[in-house]
Amino acid sequence: MSLTNFPAGNSPGTPVVKVTMPALSEMKRQGKPISALTAYDYATSRLVDECGIDLILVGDSLAQVVLGHDNTLAVTVDEMLHHTRAVRRAVRRALVVADMPFGSYHGTVAEGVANAVRFVKEAGAEAVKIEGPRAELVEALTEAEVPVVGHLGLTPQSVHRMGGYRVQARTVDAVLRLKSDAHALADAGAGVLVLEGVPREVAASITAELPIPTIGIGAGPDCDGQILVFHDLVNMTFAPPAKFVRRYADAAALIHSAVEHYREDVEHRAFPSDQESYHLSAPVRRALALDSEDGEYVVNKDALQDF
Ligand code: KIV
Repeated sequence: MSLTNFPAGNSPGTPVVKVTMPALSEMKRQGKPISALTAYDYATSRLVDECGIDLILVGDSLAQVVLGHDNTLAVTVDEMLHHTRAVRRAVRRALVVADMPFGSYHGTVAEGVANAVRFVKEAGAEAVKIEGPRAELVEALTEAEVPVVGHLGLTPQSVHRMGGYRVQARTVDAVLRLKSDAHALADAGAGVLVLEGVPREVAASITAELPIPTIGIGAGPDCDGQILVFHDLVNMTFAPPAKFVRRYADAAALIHSAVEHYREDVEHRAFPSDQESYHLSAPVRRALALDSEDGEYVVNKDALQDF
């Protein structure tokens, strides 16, 4: 970090109405679309929050888009906690949801609850997200006062079982199973349900039936809300976008241009300029004999020795 002004934390004083799990239910009741986005660090989360996004997910997709893994499976609880803390420090309004990583809730229910409690206690998460039809765990988490976001359909932590990232619930049997899983999660106490990679018709019918809000990603426009991975939205993934992604900006091009320009300026000694430099006061310069007529600052070593 340079001496650049980068004040820590958000400015106190401006009142914000915090988004809560009950507030999201109320949005569904009122037919107000819920906006959600992933974010993984302080600066990005702060911008996302300032833009009025309702729910920020510290997604395990950070394994891919931030840490460079091939899939989401490698990221650990400690890594997720580290990123969730950074996001928590930035966010004032949005609901902060932490993704439970692969392996952290796939053993006993007690282990799942213990790991989820860490996200609330150690990182300030306001809810955790878990993938798959795990009604028993959702019930235990709800009992333990940990709000839960469920995640059904294309669940990236099941990549090996699914044999790749494929749209789910395409047959009658699969649609019926997905609907029954969605109801079971809602009945067990999940407050929100993410539906990923399912046909529009399926997401629409689950959304109409469930009492809790659905948030879609690759699930069509009829869900109660939408979520995207931040890096998809701004073209920072180094890969062609999936069908459901809309790129709203080209941050890769912006950063390339800025960094190339900076490198060229350094190579041509065009950065930093005199205006971007700190200066001695005139008396100190004179005492050190550092002023020169052509504007170049030449160190007079003899004068320095005398000083
Ligand atoms: O990890 C993630 O980013 C997610 C979203 C795609 C819902 O789970």
